[in-house]
Amino acid sequence: MHKDTHVTDLALDDAACFIAKIGSVYAADHVPIGVAVKKSEIDRAALNEWWKKRAIPANRQGIGDALQLLELSSTQNLLDKCFGLSLSDQYWICPARASLKWANVNFFGNHFSEDLGDILLGKGTNGAEISLMSPDNTSDGWLRKKWLIMNGKRCLVKGGSGATQQEPYNEVLASAIMRRLGIPHVSYKLMMQDEYPFSVCENFVTPQTELISAWNIMQTQKKENHVSVYRHYLNCCEALGIPDVREELDRMIALDYLIVNEDRHQNNFGVLRNADTLEWIGSAPIYDNGTSFWFSAPLSMIHADALKSPCKPFRTRHSEQIKPAFSLDWIDLTALDGIDEEFREIVGDSLFIDQARCDILCDALCKRIEMLGEVMQKRQRVS
Ligand SMILES: Nc1ncnc2c1ncn2[C@@H]1O[C@H](COP(=O)(O)OP(=O)(O)O)[C@@H](O)[C@H]1O
Ligand SMILES: [Mg+2]
Repeated sequence: MHKDTHVTDLALDDAACFIAKIGSVYAADHVPIGVAVKKSEIDRAALNEWWKKRAIPANRQGIGDALQLLELSSTQNLLDKCFGLSLSDQYWICPARASLKWANVNFFGNHFSEDLGDILLGKGTNGAEISLMSPDNTSDGWLRKKWLIMNGKRCLVKGGSGATQQEPYNEVLASAIMRRLGIPHVSYKLMMQDEYPFSVCENFVTPQTELISAWNIMQTQKKENHVSVYRHYLNCCEALGIPDVREELDRMIALDYLIVNEDRHQNNFGVLRNADTLEWIGSAPIYDNGTSFWFSAPLSMIHADALKSPCKPFRTRHSEQIKPAFSLDWIDLTALDGIDEEFREIVGDSLFIDQARCDILCDALCKRIEMLGEVMQKRQRVS
């Protein structure tokens, strides 16, 4: 189902958790983007891939303990426990002959259980019966996370990893950089719980919209070997008629250059569309910036030149990835004056990021800003 649009009939193999059969297609326009429909038949392998990617990834931190507690063998087993509903799009599965309506089941307007979220955050259970009616069953990413309703708003709470727990601080720093540079973004705030940092952001998807990841967009066309991933993404967006993608990509690439983002994979950015009219809205605001800023590196490995830092999704080096950017003229680097001081305030008296680490990170951040300035000057000299 796509909201109340009946897209197709499926038979799920409950034991192996895959789509064993697909029936007639009733609404080809509503088939998930990137899943091919040929001669009125849905590509079953592609729909299975899409379904599988809807589950919590097998590498989610702490997932082994959570599955053990739930007595389940894989995260795929969780998918149909909440009808496959998510807070990032409007797809779900309605059991045959159940007369359920989207209005009564969706998590945007209906309450959901925090049981699974608590288990995923490692908080265990209170012994009462566990309800699995939760959007956490379908959340992506490797960090521990939980959806909850705060002051009536759906919010995503994400933890950090390793000895530095740096990701939540990085999310707040990236929000500050984007606020100063005028980049459309998801705003993250810091929340402390039992002395551990978490980032909190509001859901940017509404009941009328949905997020479609770049990965799904890139499945809409075959990528020829001679075409770069960057060009392929733009080609797919252009063919679908998604507006202003290039400008927004420039913003993402520039941000990632500054924060030395290591994990901008194809599910960490995407586009929004109207789920009712299927009209394209444009690039999604920038989200998931935590895996950056030498988050897992020891002090001796924090160097502004970032030669050893991986880069995704278009090139393996940030210095290369920024080259195809169409324009960097919109960047006013003076807006970043004092951002290092803002980072110090964000970190505060963290138990995980000590003074020495904070000093080195601030220094590296200032150097990255200088380096971006040099890239911009070089471009001006060339043009
Ligand atoms: N604010 C949000 N609103 C709606 N969906 C979101 C939001 N933030 C993240 N998501 C969805 O949840 C997924 C996991 O979140 P993400 O921040 O990428 O976690 P991780 O850092 O573990 O990769 C994203 O890939 C995206 O599909
Ligand atoms: Mg992610």
